Parts: sequence; structure tokens; C-alpha cells
Amino acid sequence: MSLTAILAVFVLLSPFTRAAADDDSRSAYDIIQDFNFPMGILPKGVTGYDLNRSNGQFRAYFDGSCSFSLEGSYQLKYKSTITGSISENRLADLTGVSVKVLFLWLNIVEVSRSGDDLEFSVGIASASFPIDNFYECPQCGCGLACSPAPQVRKIKMKSLVSSI
Ligand SMILES: *[C@@H]1O[C@H](CO)[C@@H](O)[C@H](O)[C@H]1NC(C)=O
Repeated sequence: MSLTAILAVFVLLSPFTRAAADDDSRSAYDIIQDFNFPMGILPKGVTGYDLNRSNGQFRAYFDGSCSFSLEGSYQLKYKSTITGSISENRLADLTGVSVKVLFLWLNIVEVSRSGDDLEFSVGIASASFPIDNFYECPQCGCGLACSPAPQVRKIKMKSLVSSI
């Protein structure tokens, strides 16, 4: 077989081999929704993830670290790799996500869903926010206030500071 023929076969087959190798071709945003979380707990730009379905351990990857502020609220930072353990309504042992409270960066160690609220825990304190703040994925840099945005929603959040 000539090299051209080999390349032609490879090019023809590659979409199929890719689909076969990646038997779960769903995105990280789809996966977190399988566990009853809104996709907006992950910013845009996840480049890949690993999930062990038997114990829920996962890693999600970004192309570099990502930080943004939620309108009238907290500054959040995602490292280029975040890890944790996911189960229905509970994201535990989280690493790589932090929130700025006053002048301190605190790691968010757990996120759990209780009805229509999401509770974020930094270990010493936690705060809950209505789930409808998380239907849209924030973008690195500008969060939910990127232009052209159809509308900038004011995020209504109770103060984490007051709960410490
Ligand atoms: C997935 O988790 C199970 C149970 O903890 C473990 O035995 C297995 O080695 C893990 N698989 C991978 C690929 O890490």
C-alpha cells in the first residue's frame, strides 16, 4: 500500500476510532449535571476530565488557571487542575478552587446541593446560594459580566463574611 493510501485510510477511520476510544464523549458539564449539579459551578474552558465511576473521583483540566468575580460578589479562582469526589448532590474533597474573602484566599472544600440551594464550604464556614445563580457558566476573566452579554444578572448572595 502506498503512503497516500495509508493516510487516506487513516483519515477515513479517524472519526470512528475517536468515537470508539472516547466511549463517554460527554463533556464535564454534562457529567456534573448527571450528579444533579448545575453546569455553572464550572467556568467555561474545561479542556478535559477523568472520572472514576466506581468511587466518583474526578479531575478536570483547564488551559491555565482561571479567575473571575461574580457580579457584586466574590472573587473565585480555579487552578489548571481541580480534583474531588463527586456523588449525587455532593462534591467533596475538592482541591483547586478558592474564594477570596476579605484579603484571604480560602479553599472551597465541599459543595453540596440541598433542594434549590447550593452550599459552599470552606471548612470553617459555609454559605448557601440559590441554584439559579449557577445555570450559566462564568467565563475566565469576566465571569458573568462579559460583553456582549444579553443581560448582566446581579448575583444575590448572602455574605460569606457574616457567617464566619
Ligand atoms: C477507581 O476506583 C476504584 C475503587 O476505589 C479503584 O479500585 C480503581 O483502581 C480506580 N480506577 C482507576 C482507574 O483509578
